[in-house]
Amino acid sequence: MRGKFITLEGGEGAGKSTQARLLTSWLHDRGFETVETREPGGTPGADAIRALLLDGDTPFTPTAEAHLFAAARADHVETLIRPALAAGRWVVCDRFVDSTLAYQGAAGKLGVDLVRSINETAIGDTWPDLTILLRTDTDTGTRRAIARDGAETDRFTNRDFAFHRAVGKAFDNFAEREPVRFAVVDGTKSIEQVAGAIRSAVETRLL
Ligand SMILES: Nc1ncnc2c1ncn2[C@@H]1O[C@H](COP(=O)(O)OP(=O)(O)OP(=O)(O)O)[C@@H](O)[C@H]1O
Ligand SMILES: [Mg+2]
Repeated sequence: MRGKFITLEGGEGAGKSTQARLLTSWLHDRGFETVETREPGGTPGADAIRALLLDGDTPFTPTAEAHLFAAARADHVETLIRPALAAGRWVVCDRFVDSTLAYQGAAGKLGVDLVRSINETAIGDTWPDLTILLRTDTDTGTRRAIARDGAETDRFTNRDFAFHRAVGKAFDNFAEREPVRFAVVDGTKSIEQVAGAIRSAVETRLL
């Protein structure tokens, strides 16, 4: 039987990586074979593209950047996610297409429709069975990321805050438009409370 594909989305510091780990180990304890992965990256090809995107030295136009994210995603889907699901494994992915749609599409310059069309061939029939949106206000997420990363406290300017608010609003819109795929979880609660809410969403929707 095909496994299930679960993605975690939300702004910076929302708790995606923390909850991806907890959800994967909970599924594993329940007897499922699991794969925990993240984007951008997740395979050697996708990681090479990730390095190119994040090194900051190479300028790309927004359209080229969106294609690079999609290229990394195609490699990740074809090499890792799709074969794992076919083998019956449950795949938990920290960020996926909705991050690209929110950051490059809605908050960036390209618009959601264009970014979605660029991503459609990369994803094919491998859309997530369930997308957990960890909802936090920008302040909460930013404060957590700053506490985690220490010295990097200066990297958030006012312009960044406006951008992150636009990202948060985009995620909310996506969840409203696709209530079957999305489960919205209050990410401002404690780690254990958030984990519990995610587990109930998985139980209700997928088990
Ligand atoms: N519910 C929570 N309450 C308080 N702190 C939390 C909670 N969830 C995560 N944290 C802490 O906040 C920080 C950010 O969490 P995490 O790295 O999981 O977020 P993220 O969404 O993956 O962030 P990024 O977008 O930067 O990858 C970590 O130090 C983590 O331990
Ligand atoms: Mg993370």
